[in-house]
Amino acid sequence: MTLASVSHPILRLAPSILSADFARLGEEVRAIQSAGADLVHFDVMDNHYVPNLTIGPLVCEAIRPHVTIPIDVHLMVEPVDALVPLFAKAGANIITFHPEASRHVDRTLQLIKEHGCKAGLVLNPATSVEWLDHVMDKLDMVLLMSVNPGYGGQKFIPSTLAKLRSVRAKIDAHTAAGGQPIWLEVDGGVKTDNIGVIVQAGADTCVAGSAVFGAPDADGGYHGVMNALRRAAHPGE
Ligand code: DX5
Ligand code: ZN
Repeated sequence: MTLASVSHPILRLAPSILSADFARLGEEVRAIQSAGADLVHFDVMDNHYVPNLTIGPLVCEAIRPHVTIPIDVHLMVEPVDALVPLFAKAGANIITFHPEASRHVDRTLQLIKEHGCKAGLVLNPATSVEWLDHVMDKLDMVLLMSVNPGYGGQKFIPSTLAKLRSVRAKIDAHTAAGGQPIWLEVDGGVKTDNIGVIVQAGADTCVAGSAVFGAPDADGGYHGVMNALRRAAHPGE
C-alpha cells in the first residue's frame, strides 16, 4: 500500500458557522460542541479577497467563552497580517490564510505562530500545491478548498480528490522524514454522500457548513447529522 492510499481512521469534524443562525451564535456553537464537533470553523470574508462579507475578531471573542474546542479561523482576506494579532487575542487556536493574499507567506506563518496559534495555508481549487513546498516545516494544517471560497452551500469540485491525494503524499513523506504532524482539512460541499471518498483520499479533518446547520431538524439534530457524517466517512466500521 502506498502512503497516498493509506486510509486515515482519524476524522475531525469542523462545522462552519457560516451556515449557523447568526442571531443565536453562542447557542449554536454550544450545540455543535455537545453534538461532538472537534473544531469550530470560523469563516472570515472581507468583501475584497472574496465578494462576501462576514465576521471578525469581535465575534470570535464573543463565542470563545461558549466552547472549549479549538476555533479554526479561515481568513479569506487580503492583506492578512494585521488581522493575525486581533484573532489571536480574540481566542483563535488555528489561523489559516490563502498564500496569494499575503506578500510574505513565510513571515505570515511565523507571525501566526508567534501569537501562539497553529498556522496553515489554504489552497483554492486552482491554486498549486507547490505553495507548500518551502514552508512545510512551518505548517500545522493544510486546508484544501473543494469549492471556490466565498459562500456556503456550493457543490464539491471533484478534481479536489486528486489534489487531496497529492497533498496527503507530501504530508506523509514529510512526517516520515521526521517532520511535525500536519492536519489535512477539506472545505466546501462536504456531505454524507462524498465524505467517504474524501477521507479515503487522505483528509483527516472535514469542514461541513450547510450539511450540519442546514439540517437542524433532521433525526437527532446536529448530533444525528454529525454521526451520519462519521458513519459515512468510515463505511463498514
Ligand atoms: C466557503 C467557506 C466554507 C463554507 C463551507 O468559502 O470557506 O467553510 O462555509 O460550507 P458548505 O459546507 O456548505 O460548503
Ligand atoms: Zn472555510
